[in-house]
Amino acid sequence: MSDTNHVWRLRKRPVGELSDDVLSYESEAIPEPAEGECLFRLNYLSLDPTNRIWMSDMDQYMPPVELGAPMRGVVCGTVVKSRSPAFKEGEVVSGLGVWADYQVGAPGMINPLGDTGPVPVIDAFGTFAVVGPTAYFGLLDIGDPQPGETVVVSAAAGAVGSIVGQIAKIKGCRAVGLAGSDDKCRWITEELGFDAAINYKTEDVPAALAKACPDGIDVYFDNVGGDILDACLKLMNFKGRIPTCGLISQYNATEPPPGPMNYPMILMQRLKVQGFIVLDYAERYPEAIADLSKWMGEGRIKIRQDVVDGLENALQTLKKLYTGANTGKLMIRVKDV
Ligand SMILES: NC(=O)c1ccc[n+]([C@@H]2O[C@H](COP(=O)([O-])OP(=O)(O)OC[C@H]3O[C@@H](n4cnc5c(N)ncnc54)[C@H](OP(=O)(O)O)[C@@H]3O)[C@@H](O)[C@H]2O)c1
Repeated sequence: MSDTNHVWRLRKRPVGELSDDVLSYESEAIPEPAEGECLFRLNYLSLDPTNRIWMSDMDQYMPPVELGAPMRGVVCGTVVKSRSPAFKEGEVVSGLGVWADYQVGAPGMINPLGDTGPVPVIDAFGTFAVVGPTAYFGLLDIGDPQPGETVVVSAAAGAVGSIVGQIAKIKGCRAVGLAGSDDKCRWITEELGFDAAINYKTEDVPAALAKACPDGIDVYFDNVGGDILDACLKLMNFKGRIPTCGLISQYNATEPPPGPMNYPMILMQRLKVQGFIVLDYAERYPEAIADLSKWMGEGRIKIRQDVVDGLENALQTLKKLYTGANTGKLMIRVKDV
């Protein structure tokens, strides 16, 4: 075990696009676990669009990271010292931690990952920690897709979106995805089985959506907000559902974005628009993991991990999410399990 720790600390609240000075990468002493805690070494760090939200002081669903504090992140690591019966040395754990090589964890925030069966730890962490359950509960609980219905998802070649479209297919729906490049559109149609894809950066989105959804939209799984939400609202069917999962088109905004022009459709078509945070479903995670692992084992859900080596690259890598430079689940690898 090295005697130096590396920790990313929040130095500045971001304004607009992430700049290099929002976080600093520090060399520090390795912390000591208190009674009831463990010390673990980072294997993988999940990079998530919400990291940008936690750095800011916008209205949000948990307290923002304090200036000077270690950056918060979803982590997977291996226990090196335990002062709690909940953790064994050498055991793989995951949960809500910080962007640091070595860190302490207490039960509740950090938990054993458990046996991942035939699924490699990196895939289990990448899929089951956040994005799989987000796609699963957002689509099935809120979207309630019925066979034959049309499900549209934005950021469709991303971690959540790619799983949403594949679950929609498993449930017998027509799946239409919006993504930011022709390569991504090809990937989701040719490899993941989406029925249609729209490159929202090069196509006329309202026209392309109308063509791809000749029977209208029953479920729009919203990962982005903004103009794409507006275009989808216009095509929503009677009693359609919109799980509001994310608003990534607005996370770097410096001015309040305009409201959706097609807002009246919510009234006219009696739509259900419901925001959710995956943590709301924490107690039901095993349900999602059981179905997702089964579907992955059957080859009905394919996942792609976008893995970058080295904790020191975390901030530069995070920026990929906001430009669309990632495909699938973005994460940092420090050391494979
Ligand atoms: N509610 C929850 O509990 C929860 C949990 C996890 C994630 N989320 C949300 O789900 C969404 C997807 O997250 P993820 O982790 O799966 O990330 P991701 O989709 O893997 O990566 C983000 C993607 O968003 C797209 N994007 C970026 N800027 C955009 C813009 N201005 N307009 C349209 N698309 C844009 C990019 O793809 P393109 O190349 O296609 O532009 C990028 O690859 C995010 O909004 C995130 O906040 C919510």
